[in-house]
Amino acid sequence: MPDGGAPVLDVTGLKTVFRTRGGEVHAVNTVDFHLNAGELLGVVGESGSGKSVTMMSLIGLLPTPPAEVRAGRVMFDGRDLLKTDDETLRDIRGGQIGFVFQDPMTSLNPVFTVGFQIMEPLRRHMGMGKRAARVRAAELLDLVGIPDATRRLGDFPHQFSGGMRQRVMIAIALACDPKVLIADEPTTALDVTIQAQILELMKELRTKLGMGVIWITHDLGVIAGIADRVMVMYGGQVVEQAPVRELFANPRHPYTRALLTTVPSVRGERVKRLTVIEGQPPILSQQPGWCPFRDRCPHRMEVCDRLNPQRYPVAAGHDAACFLVDPGLSEDYRPRPRPAPQPAPQPQPLQAQPQPRPIRQQPDPQPQPQPRPVQQQPDPQPQPQPQPGQKPQPQPVQQQPRPQSQPHPVQQQPQPQPKPQPQVRPTSVSHSFTIGGDDG
Ligand SMILES: Nc1ncnc2c1ncn2[C@@H]1O[C@H](COP(=O)(O)OP(=O)(O)OP(=O)(O)O)[C@@H](O)[C@H]1O
Ligand code: SF4
Ligand SMILES: [Mg+2]
Repeated sequence: MPDGGAPVLDVTGLKTVFRTRGGEVHAVNTVDFHLNAGELLGVVGESGSGKSVTMMSLIGLLPTPPAEVRAGRVMFDGRDLLKTDDETLRDIRGGQIGFVFQDPMTSLNPVFTVGFQIMEPLRRHMGMGKRAARVRAAELLDLVGIPDATRRLGDFPHQFSGGMRQRVMIAIALACDPKVLIADEPTTALDVTIQAQILELMKELRTKLGMGVIWITHDLGVIAGIADRVMVMYGGQVVEQAPVRELFANPRHPYTRALLTTVPSVRGERVKRLTVIEGQPPILSQQPGWCPFRDRCPHRMEVCDRLNPQRYPVAAGHDAACFLVDPGLSEDYRPRPRPAPQPAPQPQPLQAQPQPRPIRQQPDPQPQPQPRPVQQQPDPQPQPQPQPGQKPQPQPVQQQPRPQSQPHPVQQQPQPQPKPQPQVRPTSVSHSFTIGGDDG
């Protein structure tokens, strides 16, 4: 599905916190994303990364307190949902925006029949009479693969299996032909056959109805098969987003690369051992002024401890929140061609060549050059300005000078032994996914 036209849902600067006895939990930190009509946006990220809280924040589904949507804008159908009154929001929920909850066991009301629960939104939002709503409810149950649908309308949720309850939830969410469907791990309790049926159904409906779908899952195989675009979340933030083929072929954030290498492959080279992402997810007790992935990142640099990277564009429709793809910064880590020999004013006994920069920096007690102002947080340390226009000059090794023309603090410490450069190129990832979301 092309990434064009006006988005049906446009989210900017969303921040959600939970107030707990132990302090605030910053579950969602300045999340921006959009969803186009007819598009399926896959959302991935490890447990606790903020996928569910983000989506529930959009349509006022979080209990307040303890939750508080502290900032942001959620534009849907010409209005900001965060500023919409409760009555209107209730009409939008279930009518124009369908939501399939992560836990089907607790999402259905045990004291009402399944038929009643499917018919209720039809009567409320579509204005259907009882008879028409019953017929439509049976159609919907049939659509999601429940056998003997008309008879089963009279059954209660406990008379359905877990997978069937999940399908009932999907039927309720689809009842009013929503413009947007948010499905939070909707197929996790389903066997692969039913899962495939539901995925096919989604492909069909979004094409037929032009419905935009947000599909949260841990299953990268499902994402590869169904999504048009993928958003990767980590530590309450979006760390990377790209069209599905682009993301699998060219992941740029170290977390995304690590995530892709944790998936078994049935094609390509045989991998003896799957990669494990070492370490723990970040504690969200404060809004991070640093990269949330820093504790687990093999490419961590000094700047990653001081600043939280913004999302830098890396290709068409593809961005990543990592300093390695910051066009200004990453230049400093690339191997540089040696400068052409220049006539030296005086013969030098021994000259240092400009060296590739190390990716890690030890704390430097010396005054440092001014960092490039790519980030919102100013460096509290007073620092001298770099000398404008000054080029790196070969210097005698004995003097150990600090190169003046290197503007970024990550390069300041000349090392006798240069370290290898961080690889911005994608990790060689072999996977078995069939990426076919846009075929649907
Ligand atoms: N009621 C709550 N009180 C305090 N913290 C909460 C509450 N609900 C969620 N959180 C925190 O918000 C963060 C994001 O949770 P969320 O449920 O969005 O994760 P998720 O990415 O959906 O994970 P999963 O894949 O396990 O469903 C987590 O750190 C979680 O502990
Ligand atoms: S290189 Fe730095 S900014 Fe990029 S993911 Fe690693 S710690 Fe974060
Ligand atoms: Mg969740």
